[in-house]
Amino acid sequence: MASVRRRALMTGMGSTVPEKIVTNADFEKILDTSDEWITKRTGIKERRIAAEDETTSQLATEAAREALADARLEASDLDMIICGTVSGDLPFPATACLVQAALGITDIPAFDISGACSGYLYSLTVARQFIENGAYDNILVIGTDCLSKMADYEDRGSCVLFGDGAGATVLQPTEENDKGIVFTTLACNGSGWDFIHIPAGGAAKPFSQDVLDNREHLIKMRGRDVYKFAVEKMQWLLGECMDKCNLSVDDVDLVVPHQVNTRIIASATEKFDFPIEKVYVNIEKYGNTSAASIPLAFAEAKRAGRVKPGMTVLLVAFGAGLTWAGAVIKM
Ligand code: UT7
Repeated sequence: MASVRRRALMTGMGSTVPEKIVTNADFEKILDTSDEWITKRTGIKERRIAAEDETTSQLATEAAREALADARLEASDLDMIICGTVSGDLPFPATACLVQAALGITDIPAFDISGACSGYLYSLTVARQFIENGAYDNILVIGTDCLSKMADYEDRGSCVLFGDGAGATVLQPTEENDKGIVFTTLACNGSGWDFIHIPAGGAAKPFSQDVLDNREHLIKMRGRDVYKFAVEKMQWLLGECMDKCNLSVDDVDLVVPHQVNTRIIASATEKFDFPIEKVYVNIEKYGNTSAASIPLAFAEAKRAGRVKPGMTVLLVAFGAGLTWAGAVIKM
């Protein structure tokens, strides 16, 4: 990799999920589904669902406070806030602006990145540029989503997958060699925009009674098509991250994949014979939390003692867009 003077080091991590747990058995009461089907096809046993008055920015702020404490920084030390989210509290302004206000700070840039489940890695990659080029020092990168607010609870093929949560990371510069974010890759194939999307509520089709009657304000997903795309891209991302950084499976200490479906994660990691203990999976507890999925899992892995200084960690994600993204982090 090209050598850079400054690298972006992850100095703090935090995460949060709503208190309310919805189990597969709860879905059996409202849908033609079963715990057996959901567990076998997805690996999900339960997910956290935001309360009616609980929002994406509130979860983000809680995760941010924990990440700041972990980095031993005050909110007033921050130079920038980036939120990866597709379920902001409001169509505008950006959720990052609401987080900034909740943290009680002002006069620093705050903006959202809409990359769906790849949103955190898109945000991390943008933040990395500002640190490497010397423009900013302390950047808060958040992945936060409440897809339960947009899930169609009459569509058993999609609603059972989603959960709510937020994960946050503080990035700071380091001049130590071989530490920090050493590689990121981003991509998109916009021709698959309708694989996972919400048809209405934007400029193409503003809200109307028809929209509500036809449930077009809720998530539509072509599950099988997404599945094939997901396996292909997750495999490609793992290969690309290792190739570009001259890493073998033995050199990688941990893979934190987008928590999407245990079958997708297994198909991708088994291709490279990643031992199961090197792949962090918590989907059984939280489902697919979209942009929050990777930072939530990463923060949990760190708290569990699975992430230690000197380790090499691969992060891989894909999502609506269709987007996909990967990162190699030296802790
Ligand atoms: O971040 C990206 C977000 N999206 C994804 O990651 C989605 C990726 N796709 C998947 O994870 C899988 O495609 C699903 C879990 C969504 C579906 O699993 P599948 O093995 O691909 O099932 P399928 O869509 O091919 O459906 C098989 C059957 C169908 O019934 P018939 O037509 O064979 O009678 C579905 O109607 O399973 C039925 N089905 C269900 N049955 C019980 C679909 N959802 C459910 C359900 N409970 N919740």
